Parts: sequence; C-alpha cells; structure tokens
Amino acid sequence: MGNLKTVALQLLLVFSLLHLSFAKINWFYNYHIHVRNDLPLLNSPPNQPNLLLHCRSKNKDIGEKPMLKGQDYTWDTKINFFHTTLFFCNARWVGRKRVSFDAFTVGRDEKRCLTYHNSCMWSVREDGIYFSENNATWEIEYGWQ
Ligand SMILES: *[C@@H]1O[C@H](CO)[C@@H](O)[C@H](O)[C@H]1NC(C)=O
Repeated sequence: MGNLKTVALQLLLVFSLLHLSFAKINWFYNYHIHVRNDLPLLNSPPNQPNLLLHCRSKNKDIGEKPMLKGQDYTWDTKINFFHTTLFFCNARWVGRKRVSFDAFTVGRDEKRCLTYHNSCMWSVREDGIYFSENNATWEIEYGWQ
C-alpha cells in the first residue's frame, strides 16, 4: 500500500511538471510583428511618407520610421520569462491624426498570433488600426484619437 501511494505521488509530480512545461512552451516561439501602412493617399503625393510609426517596449526601441503607402514595419520578439512582454506603437498620420496602440501583449496575443506564421498582422487604415489572424480578414481594434 505504501508503495502504491509513492508511485501515485511520483506520477502526480511528473504530470504536473509536464503540464507546467507545456503551458509555458510559448517561451520558445519567435513572434513576427507586422504593421502595414494602408492609409489612403487622399491628396498627399505617393512618394512622400504619410505615416510616422514608432514602436518600442520598455527596453527595446524599434525606432521611428516614416512610411510610404504599402510599406511594412516589422520586428521580432520572444515572450520573456515573466510573460510581461509588451510592445506599443505611436502612429501619426501626417497632418491629420494620431493614436497609440499595443502591438504585442502576452495575454491577448500569445495564442492568436500563432495561427498565421507566428505573426501579429496590423494594418493602419483611414478609420483606425486593424488586426488580422490570417492576413486576409481584418477587424478594427483601435480608432484614431
Ligand atoms: C499579407 O498579404 C499580402 C497580400 O495581401 C502580402 O503582400 C504580404 O506579403 C502578406 N504578409 C505576410 C507577412 O505574409
């Protein structure tokens, strides 16, 4: 009887360790974050950037980039040990509007960004910032401020 109890306890321990490591497996993924300028030109010339985008986390600055229509701003990130990875962006539609948005947060994105090549797909549009899980259908998630 004593032996059975020990074996049961050991099995329990092994299963909880396995569960723990599988739960945290997203640590290994490299996420690709894409933010695409899909703003209309309206009356601005096509060879002049109509969007200024600046994305960063607390300790990594991706830099401010002037973007032409159709251009993609992209970087990679892994999820940190404490699951607190957070990237946010400031977008300025030149001469018109601005908005800040979170481009990657663990709770919201660790699963949904795995469905399409480990990518978070964002699109900056006339009415706001859109997200896609498949690079095909898009949903607005942030309006301009
Ligand atoms: C998303 O789709 C567009 C075409 O609609 C394509 O040009 C682009 O390369 C795709 N992006 C990724 C990261 O696959």
